[in-house]
Parts: sequence; structure tokens; C-alpha cells
Amino acid sequence: MDMKVLILGATGLVGQMMIEVLEQRNFPISELMLVASDNKGIRSMPFQGSDQIVRTVEEGLEFLPDIALFSAGSDVSKKYARLFTGKGTFVIDNSSAWRMDTDVKLIVPEVNGDRITSEDRLIANPNCSTIQFVLVAYPLHIKWHIDRVVISTYQSVTGSGMKAVNQLDAERAGDFSQSFYPHPIDLNVLPHIDDFLDNGYSLEEMKMVNETRKILDAPKIRITATTVRVPVKGGHSESVNLEFKKSFELEEIYSVLSRTPGVVIQDKPLDDIYPTPIFARGKDDVFVGRIRRDDSQKNALNLWIVSDNLRKGAATNAVQIAETVLSRGFIQAG
Ligand code: A2P
Repeated sequence: MDMKVLILGATGLVGQMMIEVLEQRNFPISELMLVASDNKGIRSMPFQGSDQIVRTVEEGLEFLPDIALFSAGSDVSKKYARLFTGKGTFVIDNSSAWRMDTDVKLIVPEVNGDRITSEDRLIANPNCSTIQFVLVAYPLHIKWHIDRVVISTYQSVTGSGMKAVNQLDAERAGDFSQSFYPHPIDLNVLPHIDDFLDNGYSLEEMKMVNETRKILDAPKIRITATTVRVPVKGGHSESVNLEFKKSFELEEIYSVLSRTPGVVIQDKPLDDIYPTPIFARGKDDVFVGRIRRDDSQKNALNLWIVSDNLRKGAATNAVQIAETVLSRGFIQAG
């Protein structure tokens, strides 16, 4: 059964990746409508060999899509998500607008896809750093019960959208006139992702805390995060320290992760094998390496987790959510 699909924010980095992922995964589409802001004149983008005109949100509402993938920022999502669901569209939203709403499920299909029911019309796609972390943490949590997590991230500029990539590219070419970030990003590292809050943490750090608890359905897990922007384009990297309630053997950790769908172990440091963002770029898997016991603390483990933030961290996860609702018969072509 082919679906009418709409991408809101189609000209952005995530929107473009959504088009690519839909094509690559052969998602059943009868018609695709691409939507962006109407301030850049008429534009078109290729899909399956033909050019699609980029439309306005109003045209998108009239299109009455079966599924809409939103990636145009929180304000747009807050304004339009319920207008689309009110017309019967199933909305998958990549922004942070609805993630912590108690009526909206926050889904990583391999982890909690079974929580989606036929009642759901709006599903939130988690933050990119959270998705790659929970994919690895979930099977370990099930077996050994995570008590505490310490995460430091090394996040790609692609996570901030087109303007951020433009700043990095311009700086590499010697042009320092573009200032998406408050400081130069090339040859630099910024411990600053999203706005700072009164508690001294950034919003990105609190997203990792709150979204992880919601997805794992584990409100008591203790988590602290430091999120950092680095001059990288391929994907996000994370240094993760996990403390479990139960004792583990390293061989068991390898065994569990080697059987986890979507997770690939790359861990032969003596042969220079470990995950890197250049290797992860363009792939859907989450790569994990540097797996080792934390000798300073009982039942504690260190990991290095890398994934392409535009793919599993955004577009691929959103399309997998759409595939999940479709396979369960929760969306009927209109
Ligand atoms: P546009 O290209 O017309 O500005 P990124 O985060 O990579 O910069 O992408 C943001 C995406 O969200 C772009 O496709 C952008 O479209 C789109 N967008 C931003 N504001 C709106 C809006 N008010 N209505 C529709 N699309 C929007």
C-alpha cells in the first residue's frame, strides 16, 4: 500500500537525508511533497529521478499526506504538528518540541517501538546523541540495570544544520565572516550545544538526561552529560561511563552487543580498530569500541560510541518509525 508522504524542512540537512533514506529503503510512496519556508522563491529537488517543486506548509496541509516527517525546528513543529494530525496525517517530528510531552511517545524502534499503538498520531524522534547512546545502553540495561551514566560528547557540526556547516567550510577557506556559533569552530572545540539553563547545564545535556530516562522507561537512572561541538562532519562520538547494579564479565558485554540489531562492535585497539566519525558517515549503524572495564569503580564500564547523526540520529530513525507504524497497520493510505 503506497503512502502520500510529506517532508517538512526538506531543504535542510536532515530533510535532504530523509529524501535519501526514503529512496534507499524503498519506502512505499505514491506521492512525495517537499516543503520548506516560502522565503527563497521557487526551488526543486530530485526524488527518484524527477524534480519535485518545494512547496509551502499551507500547500502541504491541503495535500492531506498519510505521513509527514517534520524537521524544520521546534517552532514550526509546535505550530503545525497538530494541524496535520487534525487532518488525519501521521506526524513523526524530529524537533525537540514534543519529545517530553507526556501524551507523545519518544521512539527508537529497536528499543521501544513496541510501545506505539494505533492511537498514536504524533511520534517524537529523539535527539541525535540520545538515539545512538540508548541503542547501545538498552540491551546492557536490560541485563545489568544501569545505575549511573557519565557521558561526554564530541558532536559534528552537521547536527546544527546548514548554517553551521557553512561556517566550518568558510573558516577552512579563510573566511571568518560567518558566525553561526559564538566562536570559530574550525581548529576549535566548543563546550556549548543549544542554550544554557539556570542549572549550568546546556539544553542538549538535559535532553540526553531526560530523553534517555523516558526511552528506557527508567526515571531513576542517574545521568550527567557534557555535550561538546567539534569541527567534524561525519557523525557524533560519545565517551560513555556506565555503572551497573549487577556485576558483569566483559565477554558477556561483547556477546550482548554483538547480538544487538543496529550495533556494530569495532574494538581491536592494538590494530587501530575503533569507531571514528569519518568511517560512520553515510552508514545507519551505531559503532561501539574501546570497550573496557572502569577499574576505578565497581561494576563500571567505559565505551566509545559513534554514529552518523544525520542518519540513525535523525533521518533513518524517523523512517524506521514510519516503517514500524506501517508494518503494524496503524496507517492506512487515505
Ligand atoms: P528553508 O531552506 O526554506 O529555509 P537546517 O536545520 O539544515 O538549516 O534546515 C532547516 C529546514 O527547515 C530547511 O528546510 C528550512 O527551509 C526549513 N524551515 C525553516 N523554517 C521554516 C518554516 N517556517 N516553514 C517551513 N520550513 C521551514
